[in-house]
Amino acid sequence: MSDKYQIEVLLRPAVEFYAAIVTFAAAFILLQLPQVLMMPPVVAGGCAAFFILLGLYDVWRGCRILRYRRRMSREKPLQINNKRVPVYDDRLYLGEGFEWGQKHTQRYIDTFDNQYKHYIKREEYYTVRKIEKGLKKLPVIKLLTRFTGSYSMFNPWPPRSTLFGDSCLHGVEGRRRAQSIGLRERRQHMYFAGTTGTGKTEALEMLVMQDIHRSSQDVVIVFDPKGSASLMQTMYAEAHRAGRGDDLVIFHLGFPDVSAMYDATGNYTRITEIASRLARQLPGDGESAVFREFGWQFINLIVRVCDAMGEPANLNAIKRYISDMGGLMCRYGKHQLRKSERLSLFDTALNKAKEDRGRTREEVAMLAVLAGEGSDLLDGNDILRDLYETARMDPGYYRKLVASVRPLLDKMTSGQLDLIMSPSTEAIKSGRQLLDWEQVIRRRQIVYVGLDAMAEHMVAQATGKAMLSDLVATASRIYKEGVLGDIPGGIPDESFNVWLHMDEVDALMGDEFIPMVNKIRGAGVGVAAYSQTVQDFEVALGNRAKRDVVTSNFNSLVMFRIKNTETASLLTDQVPKVKTVSMINITQARDTDNMLDGSVFVSSNEDRVTSVETDMITPNMVMSLPTGHAFASIEGGRIIKLNFPWRVRNYGDFPDSIRQMGDAMRRRYQSRAEWYDA
Ligand SMILES: Nc1ncnc2c1ncn2[C@@H]1O[C@H](COP(=O)(O)OP(=O)(O)OP(=O)(O)O)[C@@H](O)[C@H]1O
Ligand SMILES: [Mg+2]
Repeated sequence: MSDKYQIEVLLRPAVEFYAAIVTFAAAFILLQLPQVLMMPPVVAGGCAAFFILLGLYDVWRGCRILRYRRRMSREKPLQINNKRVPVYDDRLYLGEGFEWGQKHTQRYIDTFDNQYKHYIKREEYYTVRKIEKGLKKLPVIKLLTRFTGSYSMFNPWPPRSTLFGDSCLHGVEGRRRAQSIGLRERRQHMYFAGTTGTGKTEALEMLVMQDIHRSSQDVVIVFDPKGSASLMQTMYAEAHRAGRGDDLVIFHLGFPDVSAMYDATGNYTRITEIASRLARQLPGDGESAVFREFGWQFINLIVRVCDAMGEPANLNAIKRYISDMGGLMCRYGKHQLRKSERLSLFDTALNKAKEDRGRTREEVAMLAVLAGEGSDLLDGNDILRDLYETARMDPGYYRKLVASVRPLLDKMTSGQLDLIMSPSTEAIKSGRQLLDWEQVIRRRQIVYVGLDAMAEHMVAQATGKAMLSDLVATASRIYKEGVLGDIPGGIPDESFNVWLHMDEVDALMGDEFIPMVNKIRGAGVGVAAYSQTVQDFEVALGNRAKRDVVTSNFNSLVMFRIKNTETASLLTDQVPKVKTVSMINITQARDTDNMLDGSVFVSSNEDRVTSVETDMITPNMVMSLPTGHAFASIEGGRIIKLNFPWRVRNYGDFPDSIRQMGDAMRRRYQSRAEWYDA
């Protein structure tokens, strides 16, 4: 059982115990009957002590074999009390594990060898399970079924692990240590992939928890498109436990009553940012690209007008004016005429004007003024000129051009969403929490953004994407300027860490994502992205080349169980090839005609060791990982096998609003699952 032999056989009977029995027997004889061996008692005592030590060593070696065999069949979930999750200042704890090497590949391959197979319990034992089910109500026999249903090492028919997958992948190594990644490396982004239900969100919660507790008081931002109640409540409880409860901002599209407000259009450096943020949400392939361009132009024009008139360019204003560009031209035109004290021109034109092909009297009058006596106003005033050109368009044609913008704006401001997505000045003054990325970074806040994409996909996507680009723009600006600013309450420290976790990241992806991941690092933001497959990226981004650009930006990879070779190959293509050995047993017998020595046949028996080159980790291994287990490639190619802990939550009572929100999130999530099952 050591590395010094070319072939290591760990799946075998623990023969060391036989040697131990013999040595203990020898020690017994030495102690009890030294005269049989003609030894003086002192010498016999010394020899007995030596034999006992030798025997104990054999017992220890035998136990290692048994432990190895047991680990291969029964891997228990790694549970950890919530409060005991390690928090390091310069590293991020990932779980328990070991560095994967050639010997592990060899040991794993051996588990499929026919001669060792019976030491590993991979079967389902259907008959035993059936009997257990039938007998579990009978009083005494119940104890027996409890035993057969347990993972005890003496149970020959254990049930399959609740973690699914193949426990041998972790069982191949007994020496496990806490594994972690340096924060500096982590800033170069991490990608967690795994099929549904493999433990991504659970891992996310553990990482977020550490980010909240780290002594450097980092900014922590979590985007949760699926709406996980446990994640939201974990963030709430941990922020309070860390004494950062006041810094917590909970934004959730599905709960406008309790959610913080977010002004989608309030924060920008260049005025064109708002239009870009919104227009990006419109379909942009093929012919739609033209309409997206028009959408951008018109939204941008509205924002410029609002800005020039000193009005807030919020979603409501954009929604109102996009269907009434004529009205906007009238307002702005009057504003300009008033400034040059020529408003009477408009009044005179209004008296003569009549409604015309869908245009109001006011619009007809303003168009007449700008085409006639007031035409000089158009010179040098681009805004007015653009408004004039737009209002002159055929109203039917204009409506077609903006047809795709309206539904988006309607949805983003529908119902109570209006309240949180387009907050009025009064609402902002009322003291309700406002999610403002600038403040978030300066005050080192903790932000949960629940998007509940399953409920209203389009709104969730639009909001998520708009928020994300707003965040990146703000973070880049602050990073360039330094954190010290004139905003009261800002923390006077130039350096800061922003940890951005994006669950179901494909739901937040669009064309803008590529430049964003490229520049986000320069903005001091470390991203941890979680998704099911890389194909999701391809669907979200439209093509494979874009997907590859995004994936190549993630320096560290963590792969949970995957059901898709292409995603698994992201990791398996990175690992080196190793040599594994196998032994061929050759037995032969041959007739001889050598009558002189009396032999009639010659036989020979040899063991040949052959070696083949294989991938150190194959896609098949990634596809067989148990829940909560993963392979990771971190810190420039260190390949580790990880077991993420399952946190035992011991949170007390939540305040009513958080509890009710959590319950509602759970119900929504569950009802969707039920609908799917039906
Ligand atoms: N480390 C772990 N150890 C044991 N069980 C785990 C672990 N992590 C997760 N699980 C189990 O797997 C279930 C699903 O976990 P989780 O919600 O994190 O999956 P997910 O990968 O985020 O799935 P989805 O893609 O559907 O969101 C959990 O409810 C829990 O029962
Ligand atoms: Mg999840």
